[in-house]
Amino acid sequence: MLKTLKIVNVVGARPNFMKIAPLMKAYRQYTHIRSVLVHTGQHYDGSMSDVFFEELGIPTPDVFLGVGSGTHAQQTARVMLAFEPLLIEQKPDLVVVVGDVNSTVAATLVATKLLIPVAHVEAGLRSFDRTMPEEINRVVTDSLSDFLFTTSEDANENLRREGILEEKIHFVGNTMIDTLLALSKHDAFDTLKRKLSLSARDYAYVTMHRPSNVDDKEVLQGICDALICLQERITIVWPLHPRTRKMLEQFSLYDYVASQSKIRLTDPLGYLESLSLMRHAKFVLTDSGGIQEETTAIGVPCLTLRNNTERPITIHEGTNELVGNAPHRIIERAMALLSGTPKTGRMPKLWDGHAAERIARVLVQKFR
Ligand code: UD1
Repeated sequence: MLKTLKIVNVVGARPNFMKIAPLMKAYRQYTHIRSVLVHTGQHYDGSMSDVFFEELGIPTPDVFLGVGSGTHAQQTARVMLAFEPLLIEQKPDLVVVVGDVNSTVAATLVATKLLIPVAHVEAGLRSFDRTMPEEINRVVTDSLSDFLFTTSEDANENLRREGILEEKIHFVGNTMIDTLLALSKHDAFDTLKRKLSLSARDYAYVTMHRPSNVDDKEVLQGICDALICLQERITIVWPLHPRTRKMLEQFSLYDYVASQSKIRLTDPLGYLESLSLMRHAKFVLTDSGGIQEETTAIGVPCLTLRNNTERPITIHEGTNELVGNAPHRIIERAMALLSGTPKTGRMPKLWDGHAAERIARVLVQKFR
């Protein structure tokens, strides 16, 4: 009989949930794996957290740390303070972290110092932009992790360049795309199109929450101006992340945007609604990392409101294009998509719905 393999899995914020869901399922194939799910509570609103657990069939977390929002130091420190006694009590064989949020790096620091091996799912992505908090989280997490599970060959290269041993790097594919493929039958568009008065391919889907786009009044105003200009040609659907709503209100921009006849502002959407809106959109405008990958997987054009991306495969092989956040550039590239032939792409290697199974297999073999 195999010795029990106890794995503590950590999630904290919205983009983590679609990455952990298929892994929790893959563990169930192995009777000797004992999996414990920890939710740090970095995201806590129902619309930013609970809805994803329900829709993605993620088990209720075994432990909820309730850290909430704060500055980077406060949030990271709160996760560390709450996670350390938990690990001392649980004594797992392994900690699994996903993505690049503050909870990811905080859990990694604690586990490493307790000499517990760490597996990082979605390792090796680099924007080479250290003004992005996520880039710091990625670099630190990868430098400390024992298993680095990557989604693309460029990530393998980045890790090699940073001196990570080849034996630690495992190119397995993309667990977020596992989730997308597993749930692609559930299309909520019929209901949404009535609710938001839309027709397929006749609207642009917008998501935005990066501090670089929403925390500066001039930048956010410029993006809003661009969207207001674009709505003369196409309806805009824009679910507001809590940070974005807060900043629109703080800069007195909310009413200006909300009063436009063809801009539909909504609360944050669940996974299935968001994916359905992406799937039927003419194009997507976003600063999200995950949505750059999801649009590539479903073949919908994506304009990314950033000057760099840690996911270059979505540009070289997928439907993504970097446009930055200057209003004239956003308008120019969106107009080009409205009148021209959009870029087509292909599904990147190993984005085939089986990444989580590969991860579980590697872990089981290594701990045998
Ligand atoms: C975090 C991640 C980012 C990820 C994003 C997805 C870090 C450094 N950032 O950014 O990588 O792309 O999540 O959403 O980890 N708030 C609520 N309810 C919530 C959560 C947040 O109202 O459930 C509000 C709070 O006012 C908070 C603000 O949103 O101050 C920002 O939340 P925070 O977790 O600090 O960062 P995100 O911008 O969400």
